Amino acid sequence: MTNVLGYDGKAVVITGAASGMGAAAARMLVDLGAEVHALDIGDVTAPVRQSIKVDMKDKAAIEAAIAKLPNQIDVLFNCAGVPHPPVPALDTIMINFVGLRHLTDQLLPRLSSGGVIASIASTAGMAYKKNLETVRTCLALKTFDAAAAWLKTEPELKADPYGFSKQCIIVYTQTLASDLAKRGIRINCISPSPTQSDFMSKLTTVVPEEAISPFFPPNGRFAESEEMGRALVMMGSDLACFVSGVNLPVDFGYCAEVAMEQRENLMGIS
Ligand SMILES: NC(=O)c1ccc[n+]([C@@H]2O[C@H](COP(=O)([O-])OP(=O)(O)OC[C@H]3O[C@@H](n4cnc5c(N)ncnc54)[C@H](O)[C@@H]3O)[C@@H](O)[C@H]2O)c1
Repeated sequence: MTNVLGYDGKAVVITGAASGMGAAAARMLVDLGAEVHALDIGDVTAPVRQSIKVDMKDKAAIEAAIAKLPNQIDVLFNCAGVPHPPVPALDTIMINFVGLRHLTDQLLPRLSSGGVIASIASTAGMAYKKNLETVRTCLALKTFDAAAAWLKTEPELKADPYGFSKQCIIVYTQTLASDLAKRGIRINCISPSPTQSDFMSKLTTVVPEEAISPFFPPNGRFAESEEMGRALVMMGSDLACFVSGVNLPVDFGYCAEVAMEQRENLMGIS
């Protein structure tokens, strides 16, 4: 059996491809024969077909990027994201979720049966069930502008804007799965545990590593970006052809330990 991943010749769009997990995934996708269209605010070094500069918190920039993408897309990977702190609260939610949703919603008509969406959430968003009402209030604001206006008026979200942005991705993913399944399209997200990347370098300028290590998996270490890129490529591949509506913890057993009450539930995962 050859080409089991099925990327050869596929049109793939990937955000956050300049660095970290997205860069690792983009390199693998090029190697696997995909025609990769990368969207990032930074410079993409992987030998992709096309690299488009975009700020994911800027609606006009997202739409200008969309105009440069192919009419038929097979797989969309949403990897771009920033930590809060140090990135301001509103920008964090705009980049991590509102921009991601705008891009995804706009590209949905370009996906047909067999199409796939795979996004990066976080273990930091795994407490979404406890916050479902607020998350759904945000999701009910269907447009970029409506969500942006509402977020500016919701100061309590500023307590955990990063976690909220990732809760929104998880709930958005699971909510869309039903309608997309009727079109033969899969949608999933992965929830990584703490991972070495530019994101982590930025975070650790303001949060000491001692505050992050309680969230390490039972293997006791940061993941490498490559390890997350692999999980993402797997979710977008033909090997996962009957997997949809899933938020996959990629955490070497962290969430399992919490579920089995083998460690303290510091994040309120339910
Ligand atoms: N590193 C971790 O510990 C960790 C854990 C869980 C989830 N995540 C998530 O994983 C994803 C990838 O992060 P990473 O760890 O590889 O970090 P990274 O900083 O290496 O990569 C993030 C990418 O997003 C791009 N980006 C940032 N702001 C942007 C903007 N406004 N517009 C367009 N592109 C923008 C960056 O240029 C970069 O290429 C993010 O969504 C992040 O929230 C990271």
